[in-house]
Amino acid sequence: MTITPTRTTSSAPAPAPTGGNVPDGADPRVTDWVESIARQTTPDKIVWCDGSPSEYDRLTRQMVESDTLIRLNPEHRPYSFLARSDSSDVARVEARTFICSINEDDAGPTNNWRDPIEMRSTLGELFAGSMRGRTMYVIPFSMGPLGSPMSKLGVQVTDSPYVVANMTTMTRMGTDALRLITADTEWVPAVHSVGAPLMDGVKDVPWPCSDTKYISHFPETREIWSFGSAYGGNALLAKKSFALRIASVIARDEGWLAEHMLILKVTNPRGRVFHLAAAFPSACGKTNLAMLRPSIPGWTVETIGDDIAWLKPGADGRLRAINPEAGFFGVAPGTGPATNATAIETLWGNTIFTNVALRDDGDVWWEGLSDTAPDHLVDWEGNDWTPASGSPAAHPNSRFTVAASQCPTIASEWDDPNGVVIDAIIFGGRRAHNVPLVVEARNWEHGVFIGATVSSERTAAAEGTVGELRRDPFAMMPFCGYNMADHWSHWLSIGRKLGNLGTAPRIFQVNWFRKDDDGSFLWPGFSENSRVLEWILDRVDGRARGVDTPLGWKPADDGINLEGLQITTRKREKLFEVDPDAWLAELESTETFFGGFGEKLPAELSTQLADIRRRLKLSIEN
Ligand code: OXD
Ligand code: MN
Repeated sequence: MTITPTRTTSSAPAPAPTGGNVPDGADPRVTDWVESIARQTTPDKIVWCDGSPSEYDRLTRQMVESDTLIRLNPEHRPYSFLARSDSSDVARVEARTFICSINEDDAGPTNNWRDPIEMRSTLGELFAGSMRGRTMYVIPFSMGPLGSPMSKLGVQVTDSPYVVANMTTMTRMGTDALRLITADTEWVPAVHSVGAPLMDGVKDVPWPCSDTKYISHFPETREIWSFGSAYGGNALLAKKSFALRIASVIARDEGWLAEHMLILKVTNPRGRVFHLAAAFPSACGKTNLAMLRPSIPGWTVETIGDDIAWLKPGADGRLRAINPEAGFFGVAPGTGPATNATAIETLWGNTIFTNVALRDDGDVWWEGLSDTAPDHLVDWEGNDWTPASGSPAAHPNSRFTVAASQCPTIASEWDDPNGVVIDAIIFGGRRAHNVPLVVEARNWEHGVFIGATVSSERTAAAEGTVGELRRDPFAMMPFCGYNMADHWSHWLSIGRKLGNLGTAPRIFQVNWFRKDDDGSFLWPGFSENSRVLEWILDRVDGRARGVDTPLGWKPADDGINLEGLQITTRKREKLFEVDPDAWLAELESTETFFGGFGEKLPAELSTQLADIRRRLKLSIEN
């Protein structure tokens, strides 16, 4: 494993601190690597994290003192904190996220590719002395339950205590993870620096970061190097960088899948238990679905994961899944008692909030938490705010970081080392037009076509032409560490493995966001989505009838339980309408999109496209 940049060019490197509190028995490959990064980045100090509550307490106290964290009023929000980021560092930056595979073709047309040699040279210069004046923390972590055959290990070094505190919640972090790294264990090295060295006499700021940002992935050597940002997926490298971008490459090579999917456990009124994995693009309400409270009697939904699933064919030929994460890094705005009461209960305490608003009583607030805003707040940028201010009090991408174990609906098997058996896979998007409320794929290949065509319509002119499709295949557009078309081929090969045994999960497409002609939503969403899960799982259970359409199987007229909902027959028909002309036009656009992958496009997807086109044309003729 090559894990250091090829060139380091610190003009006058300070002597690297040696050692730190190196834990007894730490694998020499890890200690050597840490030493080499310290030589390059020249921190003042090295601290090996043990993941203990006392370490978390020490770090958060220190950050309260340095104004990185504000301690919330413990009467309202015990043991919780508010962080305000720099206003230039508020989200993942896809334009600064790079896949540095040796061949450009292995990154594919949907990734930002950089030559690995050039990137190493750029990073070598940036990281030289980048931790000067700071402490370098060493964070050993496990993605997935400690010691599970489905888990993977990593070590992140960072000069941000905020990142350490978040990684403590988001991963199984510390001494126990380090102990699992022995001479022949694979582990992923991840280097993170906020890129703001403290030169002599320079005073630190609450949220150090840099205008220069690089979130770089080296798929062949399985390394991550991130510079300049302390926010979310840019900096908590276990999440999108490891558990999706690097893990998707490992999964391709080892015969499993690392996907941008939530995992649910659902029990039907007859007591049968099912597990679902569901992929949605970012900002489509994944956390809300992961914590769904069913509106229909007799059904129970429990949470296993809200963002990432690792799926592997088990010895019994069934697809099994784990949630590799240990916490939720969820979007706060829009989370309220009506939309996600379970999240509200989860966030009672022990939570880090980032970029939400501060109430005068020392608690937090964000848009959607209550119907009316408090009369006065301090907004996410630290300014006085009133409802007349005309700007959101919380940043639209403000977040909460909280342990999964604190969620009242967490399923007992959420950290089962053997994972759970997946019965159904769901693909969703935010589609105002065309896509029905729910359809079932005809077979695995058709399901892969549905995954490959996941998309949302652009809603604001600023993002492009309104109504234009923003493609997000498998909801993995920003997260697939290799060529997207190879990812589709890999899904097809997993299907062959599972299908041969007749044990593959069934695949469904859903769309909660279809709109009526007047622009209103046709479907109430949120807890009512349990009605769609009911049909999906009744299909799996062999109890629900499907009606053939060019897009797959839809529910029979009385198939979805609409009891108690104010949905007219016209609206119900509109929810499932398949407009052949609109679909033929959409398939044109899909064909163009597929064409961008050249010879890598699996033939099965062209066959699926031709088959749906033929069925649509037939439906016009009849
Ligand atoms: C996330 C995302 O933060 O998908 O989960 O952007
Ligand atoms: Mn996500």
